[in-house]
Amino acid sequence: MTIERVLSGMRPTGALHLGHYHGALKNWVRLQEDKTCFFFVADWHALTTHYQSPEVIQANIWDMVIDWLAAGIDPAKSVLFIQSLVPEHAELHLLLSMSTPLGWLERVPTYKDQQEKLADRDLTTYGFLGYPLLQAADILIYRAAWVPVGEDQVPHIELTRELARRFNNLFGSDPDFEAKALAAIRRLGNKRGTIYTDLRTRFQQQGDAQALEQARTLIEGTQSLSSEERERLLGYIAGTRRQILTEPQALLTEASRLPGLDGQKMSKSYGNAIAMREDPASVTKKIRTMPTDPARVRRTDPGEPDRCPVWQLHQVYSSATQRDWVQAGCRSAGIGCLECKQPVIDAVIAEQQVFFERAQPYLDDPARLKAIVADGCDRARAVAQETMREVREVMGLSYS
Ligand code: TRP
Ligand code: SF4
Repeated sequence: MTIERVLSGMRPTGALHLGHYHGALKNWVRLQEDKTCFFFVADWHALTTHYQSPEVIQANIWDMVIDWLAAGIDPAKSVLFIQSLVPEHAELHLLLSMSTPLGWLERVPTYKDQQEKLADRDLTTYGFLGYPLLQAADILIYRAAWVPVGEDQVPHIELTRELARRFNNLFGSDPDFEAKALAAIRRLGNKRGTIYTDLRTRFQQQGDAQALEQARTLIEGTQSLSSEERERLLGYIAGTRRQILTEPQALLTEASRLPGLDGQKMSKSYGNAIAMREDPASVTKKIRTMPTDPARVRRTDPGEPDRCPVWQLHQVYSSATQRDWVQAGCRSAGIGCLECKQPVIDAVIAEQQVFFERAQPYLDDPARLKAIVADGCDRARAVAQETMREVREVMGLSYS
């Protein structure tokens, strides 16, 4: 069985809010159950837009990891680390930059979008243009199969796939390929080696797809092979080039999209967010004062939930019975808006109670938090170094 690696990152530019929890973290928590997950603090990415205010990043790094743990990310299952502590990302970024056409980066939709949106910052920098390439390096260095991201990030994953393909084409031809494949066949042992060779002949001479499948099963069922040997054996059958870098796929969350207090997307910069760990009094106040159906001016006016951001919160937080109560009560003016908001307030506070409880041990003992991250960095570095060894080798950079 091949392990499917998942990788994702977040920029440490502020306290995480409920939009992050429902839109991303909840999904991360689910993924760690059956995949090897690598989650990292993208501090270098944050610098591409915040190079004039690095203190923002510094202030948020550890709190962000605490928010992840508060959400239920389990350090025994997932690898948690900080990008800048695995400098191999920068080396791969540099090496990829040699063969990346400028046009590929200029065409990334977020490039122009963000420059327009963040017009108060000077983003005509080399680092900002290169940020999707850095993201590609983040992903490729772990040979991640899956990258959970939001819709807006999908073009970056597409770019990553193109870069992996280009890299494999440029550097995947290996003069010793045949010899190495034969050595890997010997490692299969006599019996399996013969079966493998027969399957290869069947696939290559008769195009028998079943033979390819059988060979795959055989290879994956041979525990003693390294991942490099496995890939080589598969590549030798399929007649493809050596896959040094793996093409990842975006993993879109069927996001329970949590709106902000005004019904827009929740975002700290819109001032419509509730932090994951926010004081209950402040949560109560924010929800009590949030706008409702603008047509419902007086308590006696009937309302329409579809025009009301509170209803969107009910869709995330309330049971079917409660939602029926809202629908009927709103349309008949049977309930008031404050009454309607109360179950949401209670549900948010109850959810956050768990976050506070999970976060507390790390707030009490920051050394525990640092140990988790140090361990995560070590584990990430081990994988990254293995990839870089191979990348350097195929690029002709292994001199020692
Ligand atoms: N670019 C992502 C964002 O702005 C963060 C990020 C950086 C990332 N590197 C990544 C996400 C690698 C997924 C995989 O949200
Ligand atoms: Fe919105 Fe509820 Fe008021 Fe209806 S009753 S307008 S759904 S807050």
